[in-house]
Amino acid sequence: PRKIIIDTDPGQDDAAAIFLALGSPEEIDLLGITTVAGNVPLALTSKNARIVCEWAGKPGTKVFAGCDAPLSRPLVTAEHVHGKTGLDGPDLHEPTMPLQEQHGVDFIVETLRSEPAGTVTLCTLGPLTNIGKAFKIAPDIIDRVQEIVLMGGAYFEVGNITPAAEFNIYVDPEAAQIVFRSGLPIIVMPLDVTHKVLTTGPRIQALRDLGTTAGTAMAEMVDFFERFDVEKYGSAGAPLHDPCVIAYLLKPELFQGRHINVEIETTSDLTLGMTVADWWGVSDRMPNATFMGDVDADGFFALLTERIGRL
Ligand code: BDR
Ligand code: CA
Repeated sequence: PRKIIIDTDPGQDDAAAIFLALGSPEEIDLLGITTVAGNVPLALTSKNARIVCEWAGKPGTKVFAGCDAPLSRPLVTAEHVHGKTGLDGPDLHEPTMPLQEQHGVDFIVETLRSEPAGTVTLCTLGPLTNIGKAFKIAPDIIDRVQEIVLMGGAYFEVGNITPAAEFNIYVDPEAAQIVFRSGLPIIVMPLDVTHKVLTTGPRIQALRDLGTTAGTAMAEMVDFFERFDVEKYGSAGAPLHDPCVIAYLLKPELFQGRHINVEIETTSDLTLGMTVADWWGVSDRMPNATFMGDVDADGFFALLTERIGRL
Protein backbone atom coordinates (compact mmCIF):
# COMPACT_ATOMS: atom_id res chain seq x y z
CA PRO A 1 0.00 0.00 0.00
CA ARG A 2 0.96 3.58 -0.59
CA LYS A 3 2.25 5.43 2.49
CA ILE A 4 0.49 8.72 3.15
CA ILE A 5 0.17 11.45 5.75
CA ILE A 6 -3.19 13.25 5.85
CA ASP A 7 -2.96 16.90 6.87
CA THR A 8 -6.44 18.17 7.74
CA ASP A 9 -8.82 20.61 9.48
CA PRO A 10 -12.00 18.54 9.99
CA GLY A 11 -14.58 19.63 8.72
CA GLN A 12 -17.37 17.33 7.48
CA ASP A 13 -15.76 16.85 4.06
CA ASP A 14 -12.38 16.20 5.70
CA ALA A 15 -14.15 13.50 7.71
CA ALA A 16 -15.31 11.89 4.45
CA ALA A 17 -11.70 11.86 3.24
CA ILE A 18 -10.45 10.24 6.46
CA PHE A 19 -13.18 7.59 6.21
CA LEU A 20 -12.23 6.89 2.61
CA ALA A 21 -8.58 6.40 3.53
CA LEU A 22 -9.29 4.26 6.59
CA GLY A 23 -11.68 2.13 4.56
CA SER A 24 -8.95 1.38 1.99
CA PRO A 25 -6.12 -0.36 3.90
CA GLU A 26 -5.14 -2.50 0.90
CA GLU A 27 -4.18 0.56 -1.10
CA ILE A 28 -3.39 3.09 1.63
CA ASP A 29 -1.06 2.90 4.61
CA LEU A 30 -2.03 5.93 6.72
CA LEU A 31 1.14 6.74 8.69
CA GLY A 32 -0.53 9.51 10.63
CA ILE A 33 -2.95 12.41 10.58
CA THR A 34 -1.67 15.92 11.25
CA THR A 35 -4.17 18.61 12.13
CA VAL A 36 -4.08 22.30 11.34
CA ALA A 37 -6.13 25.37 12.19
CA GLY A 38 -8.57 26.10 9.38
CA ASN A 39 -12.29 25.47 9.33
CA VAL A 40 -12.19 25.84 13.12
CA PRO A 41 -9.31 26.44 15.57
CA LEU A 42 -6.68 23.77 16.16
CA ALA A 43 -8.08 22.39 19.43
CA LEU A 44 -11.30 21.52 17.62
CA THR A 45 -9.74 20.11 14.45
CA SER A 46 -7.51 17.91 16.64
CA LYS A 47 -10.51 16.68 18.59
CA ASN A 48 -12.61 16.19 15.45
CA ALA A 49 -9.94 14.11 13.72
CA ARG A 50 -10.00 11.68 16.64
CA ILE A 51 -13.81 11.55 16.76
CA VAL A 52 -13.77 10.60 13.07
CA CYS A 53 -11.18 7.84 13.63
CA GLU A 54 -13.30 6.45 16.45
CA TRP A 55 -16.44 6.50 14.29
CA ALA A 56 -14.40 4.54 11.74
CA GLY A 57 -13.47 1.99 14.41
CA LYS A 58 -9.77 2.87 14.03
CA PRO A 59 -8.73 4.33 17.40
CA GLY A 60 -5.13 3.20 16.82
CA THR A 61 -4.66 5.89 14.16
CA LYS A 62 -1.98 8.39 15.15
CA VAL A 63 -3.20 12.00 15.29
CA PHE A 64 -0.73 14.86 15.79
CA ALA A 65 -1.67 18.49 16.38
CA GLY A 66 0.17 20.87 14.07
CA CYS A 67 0.12 24.66 13.68
CA ASP A 68 -2.53 26.77 15.38
CA ALA A 69 -2.20 29.76 13.03
CA PRO A 70 -1.03 30.51 9.48
CA LEU A 71 2.67 31.24 8.91
CA SER A 72 2.33 35.02 8.95
CA ARG A 73 -1.33 36.00 9.21
CA PRO A 74 -4.20 35.81 11.64
CA LEU A 75 -6.39 32.73 11.27
CA VAL A 76 -9.61 32.91 9.24
CA THR A 77 -12.14 30.19 10.06
CA ALA A 78 -15.30 28.85 8.40
CA GLU A 79 -17.90 28.18 11.09
CA HIS A 80 -20.48 29.63 8.70
CA VAL A 81 -20.02 26.48 6.61
CA HIS A 82 -19.09 23.78 9.13
CA GLY A 83 -20.87 24.96 12.30
CA LYS A 84 -19.39 25.93 15.64
CA THR A 85 -17.79 22.54 16.29
CA GLY A 86 -16.51 22.17 12.71
CA LEU A 87 -18.36 18.86 12.56
CA ASP A 88 -21.93 19.94 13.20
CA GLY A 89 -24.66 17.43 12.37
CA PRO A 90 -24.26 14.18 14.35
CA ASP A 91 -23.95 14.00 18.14
CA LEU A 92 -20.28 14.44 19.00
CA HIS A 93 -18.68 12.39 21.76
CA GLU A 94 -15.52 13.14 23.73
CA PRO A 95 -12.80 11.07 21.99
CA THR A 96 -10.89 8.62 24.17
CA MET A 97 -8.02 7.86 21.79
CA PRO A 98 -5.00 10.01 22.60
CA LEU A 99 -3.58 12.96 20.74
CA GLN A 100 0.12 12.18 20.11
CA GLU A 101 2.60 14.30 22.03
CA GLN A 102 4.82 15.10 19.06
CA HIS A 103 4.04 18.29 17.13
CA GLY A 104 2.50 17.58 13.71
CA VAL A 105 5.24 19.44 11.85
CA ASP A 106 7.94 17.43 13.66
CA PHE A 107 6.09 14.22 12.77
CA ILE A 108 6.07 15.21 9.09
CA VAL A 109 9.81 16.05 9.16
CA GLU A 110 10.79 12.92 11.08
CA THR A 111 8.67 10.61 8.93
CA LEU A 112 10.06 11.96 5.68
CA ARG A 113 13.60 11.57 7.01
CA SER A 114 13.11 8.04 8.31
CA GLU A 115 11.07 6.49 5.47
CA PRO A 116 12.88 5.69 2.20
CA ALA A 117 13.03 8.74 -0.08
CA GLY A 118 10.15 8.99 -2.57
CA THR A 119 7.79 6.69 -0.68
CA VAL A 120 5.58 9.08 1.32
CA THR A 121 2.73 11.10 -0.21
CA LEU A 122 1.36 14.19 1.53
CA CYS A 123 -2.42 14.55 1.26
CA THR A 124 -3.55 17.97 2.36
CA LEU A 125 -7.17 18.90 3.06
CA GLY A 126 -6.76 22.26 4.79
CA PRO A 127 -4.55 25.35 4.78
CA LEU A 128 -0.97 24.39 3.86
CA THR A 129 0.59 25.77 7.05
CA ASN A 130 2.07 22.51 8.40
CA ILE A 131 3.67 21.60 5.08
CA GLY A 132 4.97 25.12 4.47
CA LYS A 133 6.47 25.17 7.97
CA ALA A 134 8.04 21.71 7.55
CA PHE A 135 9.64 22.68 4.21
CA LYS A 136 10.93 25.91 5.78
CA ILE A 137 12.58 24.37 8.83
CA ALA A 138 13.76 21.17 7.10
CA PRO A 139 14.33 21.83 3.38
CA ASP A 140 16.15 18.47 3.12
CA ILE A 141 12.78 16.68 3.29
CA ILE A 142 11.38 18.30 0.15
CA ASP A 143 13.19 15.94 -2.22
CA ARG A 144 12.06 12.96 -0.18
CA VAL A 145 8.31 13.53 -0.75
CA GLN A 146 6.78 11.22 -3.34
CA GLU A 147 3.93 13.54 -4.31
CA ILE A 148 1.58 16.13 -2.84
CA VAL A 149 -2.13 15.69 -3.52
CA LEU A 150 -4.08 18.67 -2.25
CA MET A 151 -7.55 20.14 -2.12
CA GLY A 152 -7.32 23.84 -2.79
CA GLY A 153 -7.67 26.60 -5.34
CA ALA A 154 -9.99 27.25 -8.24
CA TYR A 155 -9.92 28.45 -11.81
CA PHE A 156 -13.25 28.57 -13.63
CA GLU A 157 -15.17 28.32 -10.34
CA VAL A 158 -13.07 31.12 -8.83
CA GLY A 159 -13.64 31.73 -5.10
CA ASN A 160 -15.67 30.52 -2.14
CA ILE A 161 -14.22 32.64 0.68
CA THR A 162 -13.56 35.77 -1.41
CA PRO A 163 -14.64 36.42 -5.01
CA ALA A 164 -11.15 35.33 -6.11
CA ALA A 165 -9.91 32.73 -3.61
CA GLU A 166 -10.67 29.26 -2.35
CA PHE A 167 -10.60 28.86 1.46
CA ASN A 168 -7.58 26.54 1.99
CA ILE A 169 -5.26 28.66 -0.13
CA TYR A 170 -6.67 31.97 1.13
CA VAL A 171 -6.09 31.14 4.80
CA ASP A 172 -2.34 30.65 4.32
CA PRO A 173 -1.19 31.90 0.91
CA GLU A 174 2.46 32.10 1.98
CA ALA A 175 2.45 28.41 2.92
CA ALA A 176 0.69 27.58 -0.35
CA GLN A 177 3.35 29.50 -2.24
CA ILE A 178 6.11 27.48 -0.59
CA VAL A 179 4.37 24.28 -1.66
CA PHE A 180 3.67 25.36 -5.25
CA ARG A 181 7.28 26.53 -5.65
CA SER A 182 8.77 23.38 -4.09
CA GLY A 183 9.39 21.65 -7.42
CA LEU A 184 7.56 18.54 -6.20
CA PRO A 185 4.92 16.72 -8.23
CA ILE A 186 1.62 18.32 -7.14
CA ILE A 187 -1.90 17.15 -7.89
CA VAL A 188 -4.53 19.85 -7.29
CA MET A 189 -8.21 19.22 -6.62
CA PRO A 190 -9.70 22.70 -7.07
CA LEU A 191 -13.32 23.86 -6.71
CA ASP A 192 -13.67 23.15 -10.45
CA VAL A 193 -13.63 19.46 -9.56
CA THR A 194 -15.14 19.46 -6.09
CA HIS A 195 -18.19 21.47 -7.14
CA LYS A 196 -19.07 18.52 -9.38
CA VAL A 197 -19.28 15.96 -6.56
CA LEU A 198 -22.56 17.03 -5.00
CA THR A 199 -24.31 15.26 -2.14
CA THR A 200 -27.63 14.63 -3.87
CA GLY A 201 -30.45 12.83 -2.01
CA PRO A 202 -29.93 9.33 -3.44
CA ARG A 203 -26.16 9.48 -2.87
CA ILE A 204 -26.61 10.35 0.79
CA GLN A 205 -29.38 7.82 1.22
CA ALA A 206 -26.92 5.16 0.06
CA LEU A 207 -24.57 6.19 2.89
CA ARG A 208 -27.42 6.22 5.41
CA ASP A 209 -28.52 2.78 4.21
CA LEU A 210 -25.13 1.32 5.18
CA GLY A 211 -26.56 1.36 8.70
CA THR A 212 -23.08 1.57 10.23
CA THR A 213 -21.68 4.15 12.67
CA ALA A 214 -19.52 5.71 9.96
CA GLY A 215 -22.27 5.65 7.30
CA THR A 216 -24.82 7.23 9.63
CA ALA A 217 -22.36 9.86 10.88
CA MET A 218 -21.47 10.73 7.29
CA ALA A 219 -25.13 11.15 6.31
CA GLU A 220 -25.81 13.30 9.39
CA MET A 221 -22.77 15.47 8.71
CA VAL A 222 -23.96 16.05 5.16
CA ASP A 223 -27.45 16.93 6.40
CA PHE A 224 -25.89 19.89 8.20
CA PHE A 225 -23.09 20.68 5.75
CA GLU A 226 -25.25 20.92 2.65
CA ARG A 227 -27.56 23.53 4.13
CA PHE A 228 -24.97 26.19 3.38
CA ASP A 229 -24.59 25.42 -0.34
CA VAL A 230 -28.18 24.50 -1.03
CA GLU A 231 -29.44 27.70 0.60
CA LYS A 232 -26.72 29.99 -0.67
CA TYR A 233 -26.18 28.71 -4.19
CA GLY A 234 -29.36 26.73 -4.83
CA SER A 235 -27.23 23.71 -5.77
CA ALA A 236 -28.47 20.11 -5.64
CA GLY A 237 -26.29 19.30 -2.62
CA ALA A 238 -22.97 20.16 -1.02
CA PRO A 239 -19.62 19.75 -2.75
CA LEU A 240 -17.67 17.01 -0.97
CA HIS A 241 -14.31 18.67 -1.55
CA ASP A 242 -11.68 16.81 0.46
CA PRO A 243 -12.33 13.12 -0.34
CA CYS A 244 -11.41 13.90 -3.96
CA VAL A 245 -7.79 13.83 -2.75
CA ILE A 246 -8.05 10.27 -1.44
CA ALA A 247 -10.23 9.12 -4.34
CA TYR A 248 -7.41 10.20 -6.66
CA LEU A 249 -5.00 7.84 -4.90
CA LEU A 250 -7.46 4.98 -5.24
CA LYS A 251 -8.78 5.64 -8.74
CA PRO A 252 -6.87 8.35 -10.60
CA GLU A 253 -8.85 7.52 -13.74
CA LEU A 254 -11.89 9.23 -12.17
CA PHE A 255 -10.20 12.61 -12.69
CA GLN A 256 -9.06 14.67 -15.66
CA GLY A 257 -6.86 17.72 -15.68
CA ARG A 258 -3.90 19.53 -17.18
CA HIS A 259 -0.27 19.86 -16.20
CA ILE A 260 0.06 23.64 -16.01
CA ASN A 261 1.68 26.52 -14.19
CA VAL A 262 -0.06 27.60 -10.99
CA GLU A 263 1.11 30.59 -8.94
CA ILE A 264 -0.31 31.88 -5.67
CA GLU A 265 -1.20 35.55 -5.17
CA THR A 266 0.23 36.68 -1.83
CA THR A 267 0.07 40.47 -1.94
CA SER A 268 -3.07 41.84 -3.60
CA ASP A 269 -5.95 42.91 -1.37
CA LEU A 270 -8.51 41.97 -3.98
CA THR A 271 -7.18 38.62 -5.08
CA LEU A 272 -5.17 37.38 -2.08
CA GLY A 273 -4.87 33.59 -2.14
CA MET A 274 -5.95 33.25 -5.75
CA THR A 275 -4.50 30.27 -7.63
CA VAL A 276 -3.45 31.93 -10.86
CA ALA A 277 -3.75 28.85 -13.05
CA ASP A 278 -2.43 29.06 -16.61
CA TRP A 279 -5.09 26.67 -17.95
CA TRP A 280 -4.74 27.91 -21.52
CA GLY A 281 -0.94 28.06 -21.52
CA VAL A 282 -0.77 31.77 -22.26
CA SER A 283 2.36 32.44 -20.18
CA ASP A 284 5.84 31.01 -20.59
CA ARG A 285 5.98 29.93 -16.96
CA MET A 286 6.93 26.29 -16.40
CA PRO A 287 4.19 23.82 -15.47
CA ASN A 288 4.44 22.95 -11.77
CA ALA A 289 1.15 21.20 -10.97
CA THR A 290 -1.50 18.90 -12.38
CA PHE A 291 -4.65 20.96 -12.01
CA MET A 292 -7.76 18.82 -12.22
CA GLY A 293 -10.84 20.06 -14.02
CA ASP A 294 -13.27 17.17 -14.28
CA VAL A 295 -14.42 14.11 -12.34
CA ASP A 296 -16.69 11.11 -12.79
CA ALA A 297 -19.03 12.01 -9.91
CA ASP A 298 -21.04 8.77 -9.95
CA GLY A 299 -17.84 6.75 -9.90
CA PHE A 300 -16.59 8.88 -7.03
CA PHE A 301 -19.71 8.33 -4.90
CA ALA A 302 -19.77 4.61 -5.67
CA LEU A 303 -16.18 4.36 -4.39
CA LEU A 304 -16.86 6.50 -1.31
CA THR A 305 -19.94 4.52 -0.32
CA GLU A 306 -18.31 1.16 -0.88
CA ARG A 307 -15.25 2.05 1.19
CA ILE A 308 -17.19 3.68 4.04
CA GLY A 309 -19.24 0.49 4.00
CA ARG A 310 -16.10 -1.47 4.93
CA LEU A 311 -15.66 0.44 8.19
C1 BDR B 1 -12.13 23.59 1.60
O1 BDR B 1 -12.34 24.47 2.69
C2 BDR B 1 -12.89 23.78 3.77
O2 BDR B 1 -13.97 24.50 4.26
C3 BDR B 1 -13.24 22.41 3.30
O3 BDR B 1 -13.01 21.46 4.33
C4 BDR B 1 -12.32 22.18 2.13
O4 BDR B 1 -11.08 21.66 2.55
C5 BDR B 1 -13.05 23.96 0.46
O5 BDR B 1 -12.80 25.26 0.03
CA1 CA C 1 -10.74 20.77 4.78
